Amino acid sequence: MIHPSADRKEKLRLIEENLSKRIDTLLIGPVGIGKSHLLAQLDADHVLKVKTLSPIKEALINIAEELHKSGKLYPHNEDFEKIKKRHTRETIQAWTDMVLDAVTKNECVLIVDDLSDMTPSVGRLIDKLSHKFTIITALHEIKKTYEKHFWKFDRIEIEPLSTPEAKNLIRQCATGAKIEDYHMTETHILQQSAGNPRAIIEIVERLRKEPAVTRSAVRQVSHTGARNQIDLTAVVVLLLLTVVAARFFMRGIGSMEGYVLAGIGSAILVGIRFFMYRFKR
Ligand SMILES: Nc1ncnc2c1ncn2[C@@H]1O[C@H](COP(=O)(O)OP(=O)(O)O)[C@@H](O)[C@H]1O
Ligand SMILES: [Mg+2]
Repeated sequence: MIHPSADRKEKLRLIEENLSKRIDTLLIGPVGIGKSHLLAQLDADHVLKVKTLSPIKEALINIAEELHKSGKLYPHNEDFEKIKKRHTRETIQAWTDMVLDAVTKNECVLIVDDLSDMTPSVGRLIDKLSHKFTIITALHEIKKTYEKHFWKFDRIEIEPLSTPEAKNLIRQCATGAKIEDYHMTETHILQQSAGNPRAIIEIVERLRKEPAVTRSAVRQVSHTGARNQIDLTAVVVLLLLTVVAARFFMRGIGSMEGYVLAGIGSAILVGIRFFMYRFKR
């Protein structure tokens, strides 16, 4: 049974167990939660690692190279660059066969760092690869249309760091920084980051840019955070609704000027909304 607040060591143990049992596994959790960090710690015989599966041909060539490194791709004594050159114009199908023919069923585990850029053809590739390979990979969420490729995958949710783990990470990142009120700063970072390690690292880095990490600097940083942007977006959307309503009202009372003005207003707001969306990171 998985305890909801199981720490990272426990998660790693679960993944390692799946790896040795050759169970396809999918780590699920938001960006920055530490999926890649966990996958990077996996190490065993017959483990191949690639970053992603797209573009597909590139990914297949990377897998082939990994297989070649571990002596599984024929001819073993030829440079991989030469093999690659010779097969460079071959189809995706040919490369897929080459990779699949190099191994026996469940001989190797393929670790794919991130599948967030999933496409239908990547989905089909997963189906083919999983005939021979055990696949361990990570995603922030599975879209309904791609569920079918993962039906036999064991799913492991990666939750935020536990408070002691988060405090540890804050302490590590803050080493050497002069912090006026450590307890207040720590509490603040715990709240702001919600236990997301990438958020913790970024907030501490941001704070370290201040000439001095004073209480007010800590408070300031929270005001320039992402939350502001969301609030502003809400304000623009509300304004937009009001203007659109005004437009109907003006038409209702037969005011042509009001109608046109409200129309212009809503166009401007739609524009603002568009650019806010575009420039959100
Ligand atoms: N348990 C952890 N302890 C310390 N740092 C971590 C931990 N997990 C993740 N990180 C760091 O947080 C950042 C984001 O982690 P990453 O594994 O890339 O997240 P994801 O792959 O889920 O988007 C990286 O800089 C990583 O080194
Ligand atoms: Mg990642």
